[in-house]
Amino acid sequence: MTELPRIPLAGVIGHPIAHSRSPQLHGHWLARYGIKGHYVPMDVAPDDLPQALAMLPKLGFVGVNVTIPHKEAALKLAHVVTDRAALIGAANTLIFLKDGKIYADNTDGVGFMSNLHQLAPKWQAPDGPAALFGAGGAARAVIAALIEAGIPEIRIANRTRLRAEALQADFGARVVVYDWLRAGDMLQGAALVINATSLGMTGKSDLRLPLDQLEVGAVATDLVYTPLMTPFLIEAQSRGAHIVDGLGMLLHQGAPGFERWFGQRPQVDDATRSAVLGQ
Ligand code: ATR
Repeated sequence: MTELPRIPLAGVIGHPIAHSRSPQLHGHWLARYGIKGHYVPMDVAPDDLPQALAMLPKLGFVGVNVTIPHKEAALKLAHVVTDRAALIGAANTLIFLKDGKIYADNTDGVGFMSNLHQLAPKWQAPDGPAALFGAGGAARAVIAALIEAGIPEIRIANRTRLRAEALQADFGARVVVYDWLRAGDMLQGAALVINATSLGMTGKSDLRLPLDQLEVGAVATDLVYTPLMTPFLIEAQSRGAHIVDGLGMLLHQGAPGFERWFGQRPQVDDATRSAVLGQ
């Protein structure tokens, strides 16, 4: 009897996981390309992560995305780690290799850059300084990507100043720390302004910062994508900035994993956006 080929399985591991849009994203791509495969959400408690990662390849999984709170732990459990994942200190994409090893990558930074290139094609990293609100895990991925792309300077302000200073220590002299209370000053001459805090997310407070020094024609982008038009983006747009919402970063960060697991480079376009937005 000839053996049927195994149907590849992938998924996303988080805790909780119900909010994740990745199942819609990968489900859309699987259907679009007629690929026989499945992508499932998995709620895994932190204590169970090592066991889950050991078992999944045996069950037919070719890899998984990992999200909050597992990104740092997943990196530590991997056997092979990309340079960018090591630099960011977290993994979001795991590939289960045939020899049983776990390969860990972080595609948040490429997702961020691809989104900007697609929706603000005139912007180039060497154009001028970037101003970044926030110093969490998402900010780390953005900084690593911007430095790699040749940004001359990244100004950071964070409510907890120590976290911004830690980023400066890790990423070097191109990172300049501003005080949270004077964060508006970062915007002077900045070609790119990024919100990497969770402020503005549905259910959280708004990012209330003076944007009066925002340059007309600067690119403003928010990593928050629920809602798509955050209060920060609305105000930045009213001040003449070119705005880029955060949904595209989610879509683009998923593409490298999909390609590795299912063998097809997926498109990120309006149809992808609509599928993930449930439209
Ligand atoms: P992520 O991995 O998504 O970046 P995180 O590491 O929890 O998540 O970081 C959240 C970011 O939002 C941090 O920069 C955080 O500031 P602190 O480092 O001071 O905590 C920022 N943030 C969250 N709530 C905030 C608030 N109410 N005011 C200002 N900043 C806030």
